[in-house]
Amino acid sequence: MVVLLAGGAGYIGSHTAVELLNAGHDVVIVDDYSNSCPESIKRVEEITGKSIVSYEADVKDKEVMTKIFAENKIDCVIHFAGLKAVGESTRLPAKYYRNNIDTTLTLLECMKEAGVKKIVFSSSATVYGEQKPPYVETMPRGACSNPYGWTKAMMEQILTDCANADSELTVILLRYFNPIGAHPSGKIGEDPQGIPNNLMPYVSQVAAGRREQLTIFGGDYDTPDGTCRRDYIHVVDLACGHLKAVEYAQSHKGVEIFNLGTGTPYSVLEIVNAFESSTGVKINYVIGDRRPGDLPDSWADASKAAKVLGWEAKKTLEDMCKDSWNWQSHNPNGYRQ
Ligand code: NAD
Ligand code: WQD
Repeated sequence: MVVLLAGGAGYIGSHTAVELLNAGHDVVIVDDYSNSCPESIKRVEEITGKSIVSYEADVKDKEVMTKIFAENKIDCVIHFAGLKAVGESTRLPAKYYRNNIDTTLTLLECMKEAGVKKIVFSSSATVYGEQKPPYVETMPRGACSNPYGWTKAMMEQILTDCANADSELTVILLRYFNPIGAHPSGKIGEDPQGIPNNLMPYVSQVAAGRREQLTIFGGDYDTPDGTCRRDYIHVVDLACGHLKAVEYAQSHKGVEIFNLGTGTPYSVLEIVNAFESSTGVKINYVIGDRRPGDLPDSWADASKAAKVLGWEAKKTLEDMCKDSWNWQSHNPNGYRQ
């Protein structure tokens, strides 16, 4: 199969490219490098020993995307291309709606014109809103606490409407929980620009001495140790979930939603402790105020993906911490050495 990865140079896209190539598929990447760089693609080629066709382009650009679809015989699209910083989305909502929705519409138009019938979409657990976990795919979408989350909810609806209007179309909505970790080679990983918004990159940068102290956002939640709990998933497991989804799409039509999580939550303090014990590096932290918009708990019911896709997360929390640290310590400044 030839799989087009829109936003494929990014954190999850690059790990997915490795799994697709290792499984014998061909990969075409389109990325504008707004939150990544071409080096990640080179590293994927190094890891796999295979080559990737790549384009530096804005997925919103219909003219360029039409050419890319004409030049490659695409069987399936995976749509990773999105802006994802929750805080920034509350300050610049129009930028988020424009980028995230327009990339989706352009891909759908190009697919229709080129006769491509399968799309896998990067959605998020955030679409469940404030319901009580574990989150099951049959729950209705909830109210999102930020514009980023709303773009995901809207794109799920757009893709569902398109599948309802075209009986030949397959839409797979993958709702990711909290991806962390890196490829065990230490060659690819998460490369946030500026101050990291997410927990694991922040912890890794404190471990590396790039940041002085981690602030744990709130210690007074109604959870076992007072800190928030999340369903952290190793990015390589997540990438394998994409491979399963792409293969499933070959023989199924219509819309399917899958949670990609482990089903087991860990608290912020448990993450800090696991990082320390699996790497031997101490994390300087302080417990501070709650971060607006954070939910106390979020975790998946991961049984549907196991039953339907035959996919389950295999890696442990120790693997997640060790591989995050391996990437961070070998690439202290990410891809930009
Ligand atoms: P990322 O920022 O590393 O990857 C996204 C990639 O898309 C980047 O390489 C960026 O340069 C590219 N991109 C953005 N807009 C583009 C455009 N208009 N044209 C071309 N390329 C564009 O993020 P990620 O963590 O790999 O996330 C991938 C997808 O998964 C995103 O849609 C994100 O919203 C979603 N998601 C991520 C998480 C997470 O915690 N990382 C959780 C749930 C959902
Ligand atoms: C995890 C936990 C924080 C940083 C976000 C998006 C979601 C999805 C995944 C993308 C929380 C705590 C964090 C820090 C901390 N994104 N924390 N100190 O908020 O669960 O999910 O990323 O597409 O939509 O909302 O992930 O990594 O930001 O936080 O204490 O410096 O770590 O309060 O409990 P979150 P996160």
